Amino acid sequence: MAWILVTPALLILAYLFQAWSKKKFERRLPPGPKSIPVLGHLHLIGKNPHQDMQKLAEEHGPVMYLRFGFVRNIIVSSPQAAKQFLKNYDLNFVNRPPHEAAKYISYDQRNLSFGSYGPYWRNMRKLCTLELLSSTKINSFKSMRKEEIRFLVDRIENAAREHDTVDLSDLVGSLSADVSCRMIFGKKYEDNEIDERGFKVVIQEGMQLAALPNLGNFFPYLSLLDLQGLTKRMKAVAKVYDKFLQKILDEHDVLKEPGQTKDFVDTMLDIMKSGVAEFEFDRTHIKAVLLDMLAAGVDTAATTVDWTMAELLRNPQVMRKVQNELAQVVGMDRMVDESDLTSLEYLDMVIKEVFRLHPVAPLLIPHRSIEDCEIDGFFIPKNSTVMVNIYAIGRDPKVWTDAEKFVPERFVGSHIDLLGRDFELIPFGSGRRGCPGIQLGLIMVRLVVAQLVHCFDWTLPDGMKPSEIDMSEEFGLVVTRASHLKANPSCRLQLN
Ligand code: HEM
Repeated sequence: MAWILVTPALLILAYLFQAWSKKKFERRLPPGPKSIPVLGHLHLIGKNPHQDMQKLAEEHGPVMYLRFGFVRNIIVSSPQAAKQFLKNYDLNFVNRPPHEAAKYISYDQRNLSFGSYGPYWRNMRKLCTLELLSSTKINSFKSMRKEEIRFLVDRIENAAREHDTVDLSDLVGSLSADVSCRMIFGKKYEDNEIDERGFKVVIQEGMQLAALPNLGNFFPYLSLLDLQGLTKRMKAVAKVYDKFLQKILDEHDVLKEPGQTKDFVDTMLDIMKSGVAEFEFDRTHIKAVLLDMLAAGVDTAATTVDWTMAELLRNPQVMRKVQNELAQVVGMDRMVDESDLTSLEYLDMVIKEVFRLHPVAPLLIPHRSIEDCEIDGFFIPKNSTVMVNIYAIGRDPKVWTDAEKFVPERFVGSHIDLLGRDFELIPFGSGRRGCPGIQLGLIMVRLVVAQLVHCFDWTLPDGMKPSEIDMSEEFGLVVTRASHLKANPSCRLQLN
């Protein structure tokens, strides 16, 4: 019954906040659509917020103001504006907003991706970069990646022999989970060791819950009432993750034999036990960061491979061109090796084009301003949430010719790379909060796509035409394909 008392009080507070905000900032805030009392602009946002914001920005401009309940949002939708927020004023937008899902699922935002800006986040980011995501560490897992990809190819070869259709989304999801687990936890886990639904589904559920418009994020204290039932779902998924992470820590707690190699979890536990960390560091911090790495590793690269294969199946002439390049660089008597990747220029363009049209994190992860500041003549208040709509930038006809078409050749002779320097294309973000896993993510995407396309020819099942492939999206922190991608493989290589 508490909600009967609390809800009207909150509505009045929200109304007063809106009236105060309007008076204080109205003339100087960036432009935006007309708001309604209490909700602000929440009613304008549907199932695919990045697409709704894209349309609104076409009318209101590349720096747009939207209010969701008590939260002021700045939506950034052009390369020039993105550069202002992520480069020129990076330090002022390096924080993350409070986030209900990260509170429940990621141990009160003790993870890296939603951690508040400060010594803990800085040190943890350094630690993860050094112990997991540096070139040396990534190279040390090269043979493991080779082995796992070989398992994938074997499974597809079997399906090809039987003339079976394969579920590419599932296969690539499992590969990505296995590679991530071996890198982060030192060994593979069976899919049902996290939950009977398997890794990818459970991780995706967390990603979707994290991205859903949660009233608790916009009306503090309303979360107590859990009007949307999201808190209940978040607590349930958090329990699944925690049980799994606890089991991993328990397994690592046993003493290692001298000479046994230490993995990332061992290193984190050693630092915790030694007490040398200059920041608060206990088991919950380790669990939060492990979960972060798992979520980031499993979903992002696999989803990008999924979108790439879908675009290649929709554009058979591009698929043939990639295969021809592979035949020339690698030859038809062996599989692709990681060392080949640097010579595959056309594949690189294909992947850039996929990131342009299907960025897996279309609004990046929300940033938050630390101080009041002025950008392009607009007042950006302290504690505003900033979302950079890279989906809108990627499809903006002012930035790209034939923006909606899949044309990898547009990158011939282009200086644009994926490292966060060219704000037309920033699928990994840019600046201090940019993705620390970019190198690993790119290796995985390039290697898996190259292998799938080099080892097999692909056709669509049941006489489906390329134009009939469903390209609809399912919104989450990572935007996945709404339906799984299925195709029929046939072997191309003459392996000895
Ligand atoms: C195709 C692969 C990937 C893509 C497209 C991608 C994209 C992104 C994006 C857009 C962000 C947010 C940047 C921002 O808010 O400005 C991010 C952050 C992050 N990514 Fe990735 N990522 C990928 C792979 C990975 C991998 C493999 C890992 C690690 C195993 C990883 C770990 C992280 C972490 C920890 C953050 C949060 C950084 C922070 O807030 O300080 N990512 N990523």
